[in-house]
Amino acid sequence: MNVEDQGEVKIKQEADIAMARRAIRDLATKLGFGVTETARIVTAASELSRNVFKYAGAGVMQWRALTNGENKGVELRFEDQGPGIADVNEAVREGYSTGGGLGMGLPGAKRLMDEMEIDSGIGKGTRVTVRKWRRR
Ligand SMILES: Nc1ncnc2c1ncn2[C@@H]1O[C@H](COP(=O)(O)OP(=O)(O)OP(=O)(O)O)[C@@H](O)[C@H]1O
Ligand SMILES: [Mg+2]
Repeated sequence: MNVEDQGEVKIKQEADIAMARRAIRDLATKLGFGVTETARIVTAASELSRNVFKYAGAGVMQWRALTNGENKGVELRFEDQGPGIADVNEAVREGYSTGGGLGMGLPGAKRLMDEMEIDSGIGKGTRVTVRKWRRR
């Protein structure tokens, strides 16, 4: 697996979520993802950056363009130093929310992407990594 390109968008205010969405839309399009796949990736990025802003107040989205042989992919990593998640298995369940939301952000992102990893704990912040591959 090779990293072909990478960058980041800092998430500090509401408007940065739109910046993150735009950056990922451009990236996915450039990598040759179709309209539907691009929309899925953008939706996942939107939910995960919104969580960073809502629960941690600030953080960063790091993106990477990957290649694995013939396959191209995108990796997004959302990192914050916020309160962390006590029980990650609970948090990915549909309907689980401590923020008065629908509890669909994490399970939605998991469904929309090919791979998702969450590293989080109380007092150590949260890191969510998702990947999607373009098959050909
Ligand atoms: N970055 C984060 N830092 C701390 N807790 C988080 C973070 N992201 C998610 N969580 C926790 O996981 C729960 C589930 O997140 P999820 O995005 O699925 O739902 P939600 O944000 O509560 O509602 P929705 O996204 O549907 O509006 C949150 O309610 C919160 O407790
Ligand atoms: Mg959410």
